[in-house]
Amino acid sequence: MGEIGVFASIVAGDTFKYYSEGEWRVSSSGKSVPIINPTTRKTQFEVQACTQDEVNKVMESAKIAQKSWAKTPLWKRAELLHKAAAILKDHKKPIAECLVKEIAKPAKDAATEVVRSGDLVSYCAEEGVRILGEGKFLMSDSFPGNERTKYCLTSKIPLGVVLAIPPFNYPVNLAVSKIAPALIAGNSLVLKPPTQGAVSALHMVHCFHLAGFPKGVISCITGKGSEIGDFLTMHPIVNCISFTGGDTGIAIAKKVSMIPLQMELGGKDACIILEDADLDLAASNIVKGGFSYSGQRCTAVKVVLVMESVADILVKKVNEKVGKLTVGPPENDCDITPVVTESSANFIEGLVMDAKKKGATFCQEYKREGNLIWPLLLDNVKQDMRIAWEEPFGPVLPIIRISNVEEGIHHCNASNFGLQGCVFTKDINKAMLISDAMETGTVQINSAPARGPDHFPFQGLKDSGIGSQGVTNSINMMTKIKSTVINLPTPSYTMG
Ligand code: G3P
Repeated sequence: MGEIGVFASIVAGDTFKYYSEGEWRVSSSGKSVPIINPTTRKTQFEVQACTQDEVNKVMESAKIAQKSWAKTPLWKRAELLHKAAAILKDHKKPIAECLVKEIAKPAKDAATEVVRSGDLVSYCAEEGVRILGEGKFLMSDSFPGNERTKYCLTSKIPLGVVLAIPPFNYPVNLAVSKIAPALIAGNSLVLKPPTQGAVSALHMVHCFHLAGFPKGVISCITGKGSEIGDFLTMHPIVNCISFTGGDTGIAIAKKVSMIPLQMELGGKDACIILEDADLDLAASNIVKGGFSYSGQRCTAVKVVLVMESVADILVKKVNEKVGKLTVGPPENDCDITPVVTESSANFIEGLVMDAKKKGATFCQEYKREGNLIWPLLLDNVKQDMRIAWEEPFGPVLPIIRISNVEEGIHHCNASNFGLQGCVFTKDINKAMLISDAMETGTVQINSAPARGPDHFPFQGLKDSGIGSQGVTNSINMMTKIKSTVINLPTPSYTMG
């Protein structure tokens, strides 16, 4: 139930409250949404099922609060963010415990997520002070036909109310990656956390409350997507949406009005292994990239494309490492923990069975208990298998053997996703050419795909998203340019 004491005000009885107008509140709906522990498959927590009226109140207070927040000096906004970051890191333990229970994140990774989030908030405050503190000055006579009579001053101003919708796999980190840029830029922020992960997110929001943010600047609404999802995303007060998740993002993009969108919607990150690759390095990265947090990362390695000539050796090396992965509950800090929901486990199983039926080679025996799926490497995967194209978001990894590099690039580019990709080779020239040819937002050379460090640009092409994230890009995306033009009298006379 979280830490009694500092977090006592965020819970009423057995149900966590939502955060509106600077206060923790109980919904008038009288209903709650259960959060199922992926390991025990029993209800672990409950959160408020907020109503549309409550969404309206949150939005209205966010709109009012934003006006004065935008006028709060930048250094003061930064100071509050630094304070929130410190409080967040101080409360790493109870928040990490929630992550373990809600989303079965291994204990150490859960603690890392909280610390990384505090660092992100601080970095964002520092970066915001730098990039929002400067503007541009343009002279008119650099454009043909103009005299030196117009001075244009530009600065960055906030968009208004930003709606943040993070996913279950990083409910704290991917929430603050939206909250911090929005707030430093002078926006107010409404958070709709994922159901699995909502309680961790509510704890994180309380750290912002404790830091002393003015009421309405940050709010957090919980509830069923089916009841308040569209109402939130189509709300007329919302001026920007930052969403990370699955293809719900595509549906949102089709429904919303003319507002800036920042979206990251998953990937099928390919790992291309050339003949000259350091196969030990490649094998370590494949296992880390493919199986960390049981493969439930947008940036997980989701398909290995290996040159046939080195495939046997690589598969052997990867198998040795897969055999060493520990499997079990997140509390024991096992490498492989239960996937987030039963329906996710069923989906993963569907992909595995399809591959089995179509002749893939199983390097391990397929094993599942409840939501816990043992790590599985599928060799000799062919193009007609679903797992060659779909993202399992689980600890199962397909290997496709290729006879030339072009085949690998073609497979990568034929995907509807384009988040990241990676290539292992000792030839930097080849690596650069392959990077250029891969239609993905990022290509990693000799390392598995990853979003971090969190200030790096992070973007997907095609169905993987809209816009670019990373601290600087997010701050810029959550602002607009404002110009003031000083018009001097027509030079009928000259000075000097
Ligand atoms: O799954 C979301 C994506 O942002 C993953 O981040 O840090 O695990 O590469 P990371």
